[in-house]
This record gives sequence, structure tokens and C-alpha cells, in this order.
Amino acid sequence: MKNQLGFIALGLWVVTVGVFAWFFVKGYTTTGSDHRRQILLSPQEKDMVLGEMRAMLSALNGVMGALAENDNKKAALAARTAGMGMAVDVSPALMAKLPADFKMLGMGTHKQFDEFANQLDGGMTAQHAMKIMNNLTNNCVACHQGNRF
Ligand code: HEC
Repeated sequence: MKNQLGFIALGLWVVTVGVFAWFFVKGYTTTGSDHRRQILLSPQEKDMVLGEMRAMLSALNGVMGALAENDNKKAALAARTAGMGMAVDVSPALMAKLPADFKMLGMGTHKQFDEFANQLDGGMTAQHAMKIMNNLTNNCVACHQGNRF
């Protein structure tokens, strides 16, 4: 009897961990009408993530404007607004809904913005900055091609 309870407890534990692991990797998704992976978020979560997206577009816009004025410091400030600092207040519930590869690409993009800001602060040519922005926007393009909300 004692042994059986142990097995039941172990079984439940395995199922619980399994469900968490499944959500962690797969997120909460379906296939959209355009065949992209559609991540199912609440309206509030969607508003929050899309707000982050618009902030990243504004950051790139700010960097390009500053580079055109040869102002690396101003460009660095703009890049920093899309860094890891903007991604800190994401709720655990939202984290569970986002697939693992989506989170990695998203976090990687914020990290790249921080690194870019450091490099701009350290001084770099506008041409080098363009190369980095090209790499950065590859992330935007790749993720948008495969995902929607
Ligand atoms: C990890 C995935 C991912 C990355 C990386 C990503 N996006 Fe997005 N973005 C999305 C998804 C998903 C949507 C919603 C698209 C849809 O529903 O059709 C979106 C939507 C947007 C929107 C529309 C916002 C609105 O209000 O509707 C903008 C602007 C945007 N992204 C900008 C960017 C920029 C700029 C970058 C790169 C610097 C970027 N995104 C990187 C996933 C990503």
C-alpha cells in the first residue's frame, strides 16, 4: 500500500513536470489562417507584446535618425530603449504561452540591442552600424515570417 502510494505520487509528479515541460517548449499555439504558427494570448498580453514590438521599431527609427546626424551617443540611447530592460516585467503566465524558440529569439534580440548600444557608445562607423542593424532586423523578419498572435 505504501509502495503503491509512492508510485502514484511519482506518477503524478512525472505528469506535472511533463505538462510544464510541454508548455515550456511548445507554448500555447495553433496554426493560423495564413499557416503561420499562431500564439494564443489574452487581449491584454497581446497588447503588451505588440507594444514591445512598436518600441523596437521606434528604437531602430531613432538609431537611424541619430546615425544620419553622426550622433553615436544619441543612437546608443535609442538602441538601449529596446534592450533587456524592456523585457523584465513579463508575467510567468505569458512566458508559459510563448514557445521556447520564440522566447530565445525574442530575448536574443533584446540582448543584441544592448550590445549594439555598447558598441555605439564605444564608437563605430555608420557603415558598421548598418551591418549590425541588418543582422538585428534578420531576427525581426525571421520571427514575423513564422509567427503571429
Ligand atoms: C521572437 C519573435 C519576434 C521578433 C524577434 C520580433 N517580432 Fe515583431 N512581432 C512578432 C509577432 C508574432 C507579431 C504579431 C504579428 C501578427 O500577429 O501578424 C509582431 C508584430 C510586430 C509589429 C506590429 C505591432 C502592432 O502594433 O501591431 C511591429 C511594428 C514589430 N513586430 C516590430 C518588430 C521589430 C522592429 C523587430 C526587430 C527589431 C521585431 N518586431 C522582432 C514577433 C516578433
